[in-house]
Amino acid sequence: MSLRITGIGSCVPSKVVSNDELSKFLDTSDEWISKRVGIKNRHVCTTEGVTDMAVTAAKAAMEDAGVGAGDIDLIIGSTVSGDMLLPTLSCLVQKNIGATCMAFDISAACSSFLFLLETAKAYFSIGMKRILLVCGEQMSRMVDWTDRSCAVIFGDAAGAAVVEKDDSNLYESVFSVSGNDDVIKINMPFGNSPFKTAEQPENPMFLQMKGQETFKYAVGAMSSGIKDVLSKAHLNISDVKYIVPHQANQRILSFTAERLGLDEGQVISIISEYGNTSSSSIPLALNIMNENKMLKKGDVFVMTAFGAGLSSGSIVTKWAKD
Ligand code: ACO
Repeated sequence: MSLRITGIGSCVPSKVVSNDELSKFLDTSDEWISKRVGIKNRHVCTTEGVTDMAVTAAKAAMEDAGVGAGDIDLIIGSTVSGDMLLPTLSCLVQKNIGATCMAFDISAACSSFLFLLETAKAYFSIGMKRILLVCGEQMSRMVDWTDRSCAVIFGDAAGAAVVEKDDSNLYESVFSVSGNDDVIKINMPFGNSPFKTAEQPENPMFLQMKGQETFKYAVGAMSSGIKDVLSKAHLNISDVKYIVPHQANQRILSFTAERLGLDEGQVISIISEYGNTSSSSIPLALNIMNENKMLKKGDVFVMTAFGAGLSSGSIVTKWAKD
């Protein structure tokens, strides 16, 4: 069972926030952020929300694929920072694009786009033909803007892809989850139940992250994921045109490239202008590559991601669009 991406789209808010702008209210500097994380700018929501961005990205992906709302069999969404806890992002997208198909969300935090692809593959095996995948994140609502170690890293964006069943295309995947709620987490609001006697969790609704542990996990998970997925597909690293990684920190990408003996240019990096956009980062990067005509039909590329969970995944496939 295999699939191919037939349409890709993305959307970022128009407001761009530079490191210098952050330095006006945080004890940080352009020099520290550029050197330690590799980010110069990030896009941040002002009037728009996750649904707006996700709908724009979804429409762009459908236009790129040359399909209408009636051609979609299923919408699978993912967000950890949506406008609403319910209805799900996929239902909001379904309403706004005028589709009537089944729609639901899944989440694997920043790794979600790869888990969406794998879930789509499973639905192809029960007869579906075309699935819309959509990730949208407004991480600017999930970070504590007084916490310099988190606030400087993230940005807002949405990314979407139309995928179709295609058993002739290369598709191999590996996933890993090691249950952990210590390294990266967001606590839900405590609520006001008069019956709740447990102690209120710390910093509800703000992202909490142990930076160095995340860093170590990321380099290990991405480099072993890439090796394992290539071995499963009987391919070598020399067969791969591009690695399209989750964009979390430029140093993570550089370490991963070094471990695998790759040229830095082969490891796609958009982090300098967008920051870490969580689950949207891989479809956003793919859309930028598509717009810049970097991918040619038949190119082998590996997507690799890690995130809270701790979850990680790597998928090798071929670009199958003209
Ligand atoms: N500006 C200036 N100084 C800072 C900043 C900042 N924005 N943030 C932290 N510092 C300081 C710390 O306070 C510390 O100061 P101290 O030595 O006086 O105590 C010093 O810099 C070093 O702190 P470290 O945490 O050791 O810095 P490190 O080099 O590890 O960088 C960072 C921190 C950027 C968070 C890094 O660990 C990292 O990128 N980790 C991975 C993060 C990541 O991938 N996040 C994604 C999570 S969610 C997801 O996408 C899956």
